[in-house]
Amino acid sequence: MVDAAAFIAEATDAVADAVGDRRAVIALSGGVDSSVAATLAYAAIGARLTPVYVDTGLMRAGETDQIRETFGYMETLEVVDARERFLDALADVTDPERKRHIIGEQFIRVFEAVGARMDARVLIQGTIYPDRIESEGNIKSHHNVGGLPEAVEFDAIVEPLAELYKDEVRAVARALELPAAIAERMPFPGPGLAVRVIGPVTAERLRVAREATAIIEEELAPHAPWQGFGAVLGKATGVKGDNRIHGHVIAVRAVGSRDGMTARAMELPWQTLQQIQSRITGQVDGVARVVYDITHKPPATIEYE
Ligand code: XMP
Repeated sequence: MVDAAAFIAEATDAVADAVGDRRAVIALSGGVDSSVAATLAYAAIGARLTPVYVDTGLMRAGETDQIRETFGYMETLEVVDARERFLDALADVTDPERKRHIIGEQFIRVFEAVGARMDARVLIQGTIYPDRIESEGNIKSHHNVGGLPEAVEFDAIVEPLAELYKDEVRAVARALELPAAIAERMPFPGPGLAVRVIGPVTAERLRVAREATAIIEEELAPHAPWQGFGAVLGKATGVKGDNRIHGHVIAVRAVGSRDGMTARAMELPWQTLQQIQSRITGQVDGVARVVYDITHKPPATIEYE
């Protein structure tokens, strides 16, 4: 386990050295990795850093407000509403790797636009160690690593967390006194809810995934999963009142893990599962059915795409 205080001092110096007298941008996602990287980078270079939060429409509930609250002290914070742009780019795309590629590309374009406006020459990223080895092994083109378009218009990419595991990043987050909601928050994939709806990405399917995930995160909090979320699988028949409906099927995913590379499906109490089921079918419009995913990783992955 990394010594958090020593790491913070070294990483801050390293970022300051790597950036020199240039300006830099960093993508804030609301997750612990980018939050820690941004906090370190801001400590290193202050207002020469522009933290950019892109509202892709693929984020969890409440993410935008949380970002403003936590990082509003950085006077250069930019919040970009790109929801329409992402939905348009993803229209009718069903292949998971194509989704990742498109999201990565749109993402970096939005950055480049802000970066160009700010005259930023350096891109800072919160990439952590497992992201890199999974990408090198080509298990998945993680959008923030392998999926970058070739013509990235930055002079340098700086990744201060590249040697850390997730639990180490959390330790650093606590040492930086980031809010517990961030330090302890579950990992969330770069492509966001787009890899939690199987098949086409629409505003409606994203809404269902977002609302279901908010309920699942809340109900699972006492069980402290590595990740817990809802995925939209497709449609199935249900009954509402006197009518048969054709509604969404939500898969509940709850796994324990150390680093995301392997994971165990959690043995949740029946009561917890039923509480999740009744809240989702009762509160999320258009859901007909809730199922629990009992597959470990391997053979399944944590995400659905
Ligand atoms: P899988 O689904 O491959 O996920 O078992 C392992 C861990 O990685 C996250 N994940 C991603 N993170 N870009 C990311 O930044 C991605 O494309 C991506 N796909 C999966 C996932 O949430 C889990 O923590």
